[in-house]
Amino acid sequence: MTQHSTGTSITFDRATKTYPGAAAPALDAFDLEVEAGELVCLVGPSGGGKTTALQLVNRLVDLTSGDIRIGDHSITDQSAIELRRTIGYAIQQSGLFPHYTVADNIATVPAILGWEKKRIRARTAELLELVGLSPVETWLPRYPAQLSGGQQQRVGIARALAADPPVMLMDEPFGALDPITRVAVQDEFLAIHRAVGKTTLFVTHDIDEAIKMADRIAILKPGGKLAQFGAPAEVLSSPADDFVAEFLGAERGLKRLALTTVGEIVFGSGDRAGSGAETTQWPDVEATMTLREALSVVSAARADGAIVHSAGSRLGEVSLHDLIAPPAAGEGREGVRT
Ligand SMILES: Nc1ncnc2c1ncn2[C@@H]1O[C@H](COP(=O)(O)OP(=O)(O)O)[C@@H](O)[C@H]1O
Ligand SMILES: [Mg+2]
Repeated sequence: MTQHSTGTSITFDRATKTYPGAAAPALDAFDLEVEAGELVCLVGPSGGGKTTALQLVNRLVDLTSGDIRIGDHSITDQSAIELRRTIGYAIQQSGLFPHYTVADNIATVPAILGWEKKRIRARTAELLELVGLSPVETWLPRYPAQLSGGQQQRVGIARALAADPPVMLMDEPFGALDPITRVAVQDEFLAIHRAVGKTTLFVTHDIDEAIKMADRIAILKPGGKLAQFGAPAEVLSSPADDFVAEFLGAERGLKRLALTTVGEIVFGSGDRAGSGAETTQWPDVEATMTLREALSVVSAARADGAIVHSAGSRLGEVSLHDLIAPPAAGEGREGVRT
């Protein structure tokens, strides 16, 4: 799906953290290999050790035992300060400095690294464009309090990307956003991820967000143990145990429909017998919609199929049956990729 070209692997090797005075570890002999350029979501119940796992990587928290490697190097091979310059970190509520302008917030790490002013200005403008804040002159002089939550979040992402770090850590970065802004910022971030391909560890407690964003999902259980690690489709179709199945919820089957777009299963008009008169009452859907979204449209229209459009032209149609029991890839019917 995603072309991975840049970035560096992250390896947790029996990584363990026991906070002082705690009876049990917050993260317990945790093994995980995140490939270069991959976006891995850490999900699990509150208190399951997700934030601890992330903060061990940039050494905001120190390991009790075990190791974490970035590429071939242990995170302890350099000072914590040097390490953090190679890791972008974005958190909920954006974490922007309130008394710095947008420009100065984004420039924080490049300035520490001693970049020339001209280079910092060019990079800041490029990043604001990338996160969808243009014209950049409008945003550069503003302070965080003069931005909406979604705009602050975008600036937070730009700041984390500023020095072009090979690794990104994101801790519930979109958790405070309303649903509509959240979808917009998720889409923006996915587009950036596809373009720049940084190795990303992304914490969320929202399983739907993980299914949408992740190449692979790591599910943690209480006590900081790894319950399952796999691609979204794999986790949804074969949960490793009862804990995972319960965490994914009763709508596991419906959630799987969010992994495929209508464009991937659409059939050209006239390819099939019976397509004609009865489709006149069918609602329109966009090829980029997921099967789950299209199913919702079809259900609301009390129809038994939908007409699929892309860029204003009719691509074909999908029946209710196609939507709820899509053909698996490679089963012989021609799909149209969007
Ligand atoms: N700084 C800390 N000191 C002591 N205990 C902590 C600290 N941070 C987290 N914990 C404990 O470690 C466990 C895991 O927490 P955390 O990593 O924040 O989980 P999550 O992000 O999955 O909600 C919890 O039991 C929490 O109370
Ligand atoms: Mg947390």
